[in-house]
Amino acid sequence: MTLDEGEKCAAPGSNGGDWSSLYLILGAVLMPIALPFVVLECCYRLRVKKCRNELAGKVVLITGASSGLGEALAHTFYKAGCKVILAARRVEELERVKKDLLALDAVISSVTYPPVILSLDLAELKDIPDFARKALSVHNKIDILINNGGISVRATVGSSALDVDLKVMVVNYFGSVAITKAILPSMLKQKSGHICFISSVQGKFALPYRSAYSASKHALQAFSDSLRSEVVDKGVQVTCISPGYIRTQLSVNALTGSGKTYGKMDKTTASGMLPEKVADRILNAIVGKEKDVMISDSQAKLAYYARYLFPSLYFWIIGNRARKLEKAEAAEQKKGK
Ligand SMILES: NC(=O)c1ccc[n+]([C@@H]2O[C@H](COP(=O)([O-])OP(=O)(O)OC[C@H]3O[C@@H](n4cnc5c(N)ncnc54)[C@H](OP(=O)(O)O)[C@@H]3O)[C@@H](O)[C@H]2O)c1
Repeated sequence: MTLDEGEKCAAPGSNGGDWSSLYLILGAVLMPIALPFVVLECCYRLRVKKCRNELAGKVVLITGASSGLGEALAHTFYKAGCKVILAARRVEELERVKKDLLALDAVISSVTYPPVILSLDLAELKDIPDFARKALSVHNKIDILINNGGISVRATVGSSALDVDLKVMVVNYFGSVAITKAILPSMLKQKSGHICFISSVQGKFALPYRSAYSASKHALQAFSDSLRSEVVDKGVQVTCISPGYIRTQLSVNALTGSGKTYGKMDKTTASGMLPEKVADRILNAIVGKEKDVMISDSQAKLAYYARYLFPSLYFWIIGNRARKLEKAEAAEQKKGK
């Protein structure tokens, strides 16, 4: 045997015994740390499974149910046996969603309830109390309110009209606040209910070209945290969901600085999470009574921690991103000329 061969024989891995003792030591050290987490996760999953069955017959009001995440939420809660009330501006799109839901009856074995459609414009705050009354009168209560409807923006602070900032803030923030205020008294009276806000990872950290959108989602996050503290002992649950990119029409429907429709599918949105997966995670968060949930890839989670732990690094990263976006915009304008 050559010296090399002798060394090879002595190397860990060529001798199963060396590795197995290493695994044993690692196992002995890590097991007590990992075990409580494994047990907690198992308990959580069992609780969620049990509570999912208790969703049947619950009245769920979903705003922005005519497309994207709202449409996926309508499917998820309908399949769970809920009495869904679908709201948005485009009633013809809500009719399409309703038709799709009713078609599911052929494949769902459990009991379902016919979806109800209500017209809603979140920008018309004065009409919201009346909308809430109509929603409450459908089944005489709302068990779960999902504030999902929203719009995004694609413009710098300098290039966007104040009216655009106002519109984004009204639709994304004040609209949801107005519905919540109109529904909350009935939940407090029945000493039960769940209010869910669909925020965004941009409610945790802001991005360039999205000032009004990020601001509206930060406001939603703060509102939900404050509301939760007030109703925690009164039987009402509050969940704030912060998703990363989802494959929906959000960028297509976004507003430009002048208030026109952006009309383009961003690469980040096109490669985002499937709305059905996000909707399923949201259902689990609601039945699991989770308070604050980020549904995103690790990049968004890192950005979130960087914003608070290493702010200078975060500002440097989004500064670079702003420069890149500015260059891309300039190149596009040059091409358009
Ligand atoms: N897609 C993403 O990457 C992403 C990431 C994080 C969070 N989110 C959030 O997810 C929610 C749903 O958006 P989405 O991604 O599903 O986009 P989407 O496909 O554009 O859907 C937006 C929904 O909001 C409704 N809506 C817009 N303006 C409204 C108004 N004035 N009044 C009533 N309803 C209105 C739309 O319905 P009508 O046009 O028929 O009114 C539509 O149903 C939004 O709050 C968004 O901020 C999305």
